[in-house]
Amino acid sequence: MLPDVRIETKRLILRPFGVQDLGEVLAVMEAGDREALPPGAPADADEVGGWLEDAVHRLHRDGGGIHLAISEKETGAHVGGISLFRTDWEVGATEVGYGVRRERRSFGYATEALQALTEWVLTRSGIQRVELRANTDNLPSAWVAQKAGYTREGTLRRALREEDGLHDLAIYSRLSAL
Ligand SMILES: CC(C)(COP(=O)(O)OP(=O)(O)OC[C@H]1O[C@@H](n2cnc3c(N)ncnc32)[C@H](O)[C@@H]1OP(=O)(O)O)[C@@H](O)C(=O)NCCC(=O)NCCS
Repeated sequence: MLPDVRIETKRLILRPFGVQDLGEVLAVMEAGDREALPPGAPADADEVGGWLEDAVHRLHRDGGGIHLAISEKETGAHVGGISLFRTDWEVGATEVGYGVRRERRSFGYATEALQALTEWVLTRSGIQRVELRANTDNLPSAWVAQKAGYTREGTLRRALREEDGLHDLAIYSRLSAL
């Protein structure tokens, strides 16, 4: 299981979701900003309380990773989510994914969160490889990966199906020092 995590950067706090996030999460849902919430977040507002209390923590409990909320230090506002998942403890590898609220994009928040979480993972958790997969059409995400020091390893051709059809996936990674 990953150790408990709370990371402060210059402008952001990364920490596990909790019941105190109910108002912010409902506002994100109301704005149709689901990409700023982790996969598995309920579609129904009535289920958000239960999800924040229990289901959102299941990934961490099961050893597969963790879902973290990203909030602005200055305002406390929910900026987005960043998750570690598909953790392979034998190899010491995990995958990272993230999303930022539309109104808060292009301020460098995803890069700041990704950089900080990756450094924490590679130095504090026993994980030696963090992998990042992004649709090759997703230019902002490719740029975030590069700015956060990830190396592009290759392309998984037609490995992703979205509403408009099949897409190639770019694979990036960062490794710990040996
Ligand atoms: C990808 C995402 C997380 C980036 O978040 P963000 O906080 O805006 O990221 P940053 O501000 O750190 O960096 C984004 C960069 O992309 C650039 N960018 C934005 N739109 C772009 C476009 N259409 N083409 C090229 N670059 C673009 C921004 O200018 C910025 O670069 P800069 O710092 O040099 O100005 C956000 O767009 C998002 O949530 N998208 C939907 C979910 C998603 O795709 N998640 C990633 C899955 S792998």
